[in-house]
Amino acid sequence: MNDRPIALDMRDVRKVYRVGDSDIVALDHATLSVERSEMVALVGPSGSGKTTLCSIAGGILSPTEGRIVVGGEDITGHSESQLTSFRQRKVGFVFQSVNLVPFLTARENLLVVDELGRRTGAAARERADELLDDLGLTDRSKNLPSQLSGGQRQRVAIGRALMNDPELVLFDEPTSALDTELGAQVMELIRSEVTSSNTAAIVVTHDERITDYCDRSVNIVDGKLQAA
Ligand SMILES: Nc1ncnc2c1ncn2[C@@H]1O[C@H](COP(=O)(O)OP(=O)(O)OP(=O)(O)O)[C@@H](O)[C@H]1O
Ligand SMILES: [Mg+2]
Repeated sequence: MNDRPIALDMRDVRKVYRVGDSDIVALDHATLSVERSEMVALVGPSGSGKTTLCSIAGGILSPTEGRIVVGGEDITGHSESQLTSFRQRKVGFVFQSVNLVPFLTARENLLVVDELGRRTGAAARERADELLDDLGLTDRSKNLPSQLSGGQRQRVAIGRALMNDPELVLFDEPTSALDTELGAQVMELIRSEVTSSNTAAIVVTHDERITDYCDRSVNIVDGKLQAA
């Protein structure tokens, strides 16, 4: 762990997708900093660039222009293999569609991270069990995803995203498949995990209630960011 306060620093990022003969500007000079323990809501209409921003911040996509530093590591010029290593060490993702490995149990879905990540063996199992406990899933740790409820699956995905003590966790509409009550529970869990693990988070949402759990909101319209 380092104690740099800024977990994510995105400067003047542009992303242009080329489709056929036309260019789609998905991010237009986006600048955003997120501190450790800070949770930022990213709010905007469909197609405004939210997923693109998360993908670039997490090193899934490279920007067309601009600079991205995560946990002190400048990833702007990283090669594919450097980005793969970066993602394993520093980022967690939770997507709307949960993407658990269907033939692994809840606990194994957390442990799969350790094959790629920083802990191995007993230390990884201890971390997985601690997270499953925090997430209220200890008695479901041997269940397969198909034997879990939607909210439980989402909690496993959150645990998996936190396995490696990431600098930055990116939540792309984490509660959109959940009802109001479960959505609130999941947001409370996210909030407490972010605070206790001193990580930074961006939460994409269309839901005003979710912004209440965040420290601040940033709006995005046509790829341009503005403070809410
Ligand atoms: N791989 C791609 N190739 C071309 N255009 C893309 C690609 N991915 C996204 N876009 C376009 O870029 C813009 C931003 O897309 P993005 O997925 O970031 O929006 P979003 O805010 O996440 O939307 P939603 O709320 O619907 O998920 C949209 O106009 C979209 O059509
Ligand atoms: Mg999206």
